[in-house]
Amino acid sequence: MLVIFGASGDLTSRKIIPAVYDMSVSGDLPAETSILGVSRTPMTDDQWRDRLAPRVREHAGRFEKSAWDVFARRIHYFSGSATEPEIYPKLSERIAALTAERGGGGNILFHLAVAPKLYEPIIECLDSGGLILEGRRWCSLDRDVMPWQRIIVEKPFGHDIDSAKGLNRTLGRAFEEDAIYRIDHYLGKEIVQNLLVFRFANTIFEPLWNQQYIDHVQITAAETVGAGDRAAFYDGVGAIRDMIQSHLLQVMALVAMEPPTSFTNHHIRQEKIKIIDAIEPLPLDRLEQHAALGQYGGDDREPAYHLNAGVPDTTVTETFAAVRLTFDNWRWAGTPFLLRTGKRMAAKRTEIVIQFKHPPARIFGHLDKASTIRPANRIIIEIAPNSGVSLRFDGKVPGLGMRLDTVAMDFDYSQRFGADPVEAYGPLIIDAMRGDQTLFQHRYEVEGAWRAVMPLLGPESEKIRRNLHANYPAGSWGPSSADRLLSAHGHGHGWHNPVGTPA
Ligand code: BG6
Repeated sequence: MLVIFGASGDLTSRKIIPAVYDMSVSGDLPAETSILGVSRTPMTDDQWRDRLAPRVREHAGRFEKSAWDVFARRIHYFSGSATEPEIYPKLSERIAALTAERGGGGNILFHLAVAPKLYEPIIECLDSGGLILEGRRWCSLDRDVMPWQRIIVEKPFGHDIDSAKGLNRTLGRAFEEDAIYRIDHYLGKEIVQNLLVFRFANTIFEPLWNQQYIDHVQITAAETVGAGDRAAFYDGVGAIRDMIQSHLLQVMALVAMEPPTSFTNHHIRQEKIKIIDAIEPLPLDRLEQHAALGQYGGDDREPAYHLNAGVPDTTVTETFAAVRLTFDNWRWAGTPFLLRTGKRMAAKRTEIVIQFKHPPARIFGHLDKASTIRPANRIIIEIAPNSGVSLRFDGKVPGLGMRLDTVAMDFDYSQRFGADPVEAYGPLIIDAMRGDQTLFQHRYEVEGAWRAVMPLLGPESEKIRRNLHANYPAGSWGPSSADRLLSAHGHGHGWHNPVGTPA
């Protein structure tokens, strides 16, 4: 059974239920799974189903009335305040009754789709309410025959390293680590998972995948949308917490990690933990050489960030962040990873650029002009809006004499496989039901990622938080301070700013 806390919220109706519906249509949702939504709003089962139907029609992959009618019968609703321990005996009874109706052996997947401040009170209530059964402990003799209880926790996972540790401790008092599923929807994206295949199912890339051949790596997640209606909420968060600590560091870990011993959750997560731990601490006295922050200016579409309703006009919250990270390990020493994200940028584009070094002997160097040194080889892995991999290298332009130009070998995911992109949530929820934690974060990953970004959030970051207001125009690629992260270190050719969907 899937028990969703925050049933009347936007996340549930826009993402979770449409994704679970898709999984039921594709036959991946186990037949015995029923869904119980928990929220304060008083509603009957039918009222909740009626509210969900138009959202599923809008957000599911393929909506069919007949399939929805069958699926809707699996959806139930329980009205109550999830932070009040008094509701738990009744909730427990309802779960037991639905289990008796549908089967499923008492297995429960809880999904916390509520405001983060409610996570800990709900986890404590679940524990004290007796919903997490004895037998969950790793040393329990009959662990395999006991029903399981697992929990999916949404991002943001904490607000800083201390709150993340606190949340991990609260979770750990109620659930074993192998029952905790910290979700990051980037890990559910096909092309992000393809990184493991690209690197470890092929022989041709891995020998080059190190500091000897790679000059630097860029990971960009640029969005054209602004903070908009979420501005008041966003102001307490900012780009580092919203995107870098979570999504971009996860993508970085998959690009930078060592080959896992096997394709199992345990081995993959071990390698991700190791690489996140190997990030060198940002130097507090030279932060401006390692990070750049920004806030978008206004245009006729949206006001400048600091002029949004609900945002104090003295705000120093960043809507753009770029950070240069380095590793203290054999594979990557001296090869920086540059992570960049922003709102109201020139294009919606999420990509990884692997920039190789120039050949050691440059026999065509005489063809370069001082201002136009040929770009080095690049592998560009596009995650959004399209998915694919492009290998860029030099070729000879036909004709007399010697002229070089960049050519590309392209792999387009949807052209090759013809599959519609699947909403990341569905497969992730099914993975949690199957007990596969490969695409979820271990507590050490989350804490390590916080440790890496904390200097950018603390008082030391004041220096890079000055004069942020409108320091980059809407529809641009961010503030000029971000360019220095590459140029000041001699990494030629700067950021890869692709032409994409215009802002
Ligand atoms: C979310 C952030 O986690 O990811 C949003 O909170 C952001 O601010 C979104 O817009 C981006 O996701 P995607 O899949 O569109 O790149």
